Amino acid sequence: MYVCLCVGVTDGQIRDAIYEGCCSYKEVRSATQVASQCGKCACLAKEVVRETLTELQLSRQAALPYPAEFTAA
Ligand code: FES
Repeated sequence: MYVCLCVGVTDGQIRDAIYEGCCSYKEVRSATQVASQCGKCACLAKEVVRETLTELQLSRQAALPYPAEFTAA
């Protein structure tokens, strides 16, 4: 789905930017140029970034052999 019509950025491209190392909306914006023209797509772009970062964080926590808040005594 196109998120940014001005620049032609899709939600997939935003997700790929995060999978390739971007850790924030600012970094995704810099990498993809999303929301760099009229800016009307900024809210949706931020939502896709937030969702993807949350999914990534949850999948990494699920991969841990013990809870993330675990501390050895
Ligand atoms: S729709 Fe993204 S900058 Fe205009």
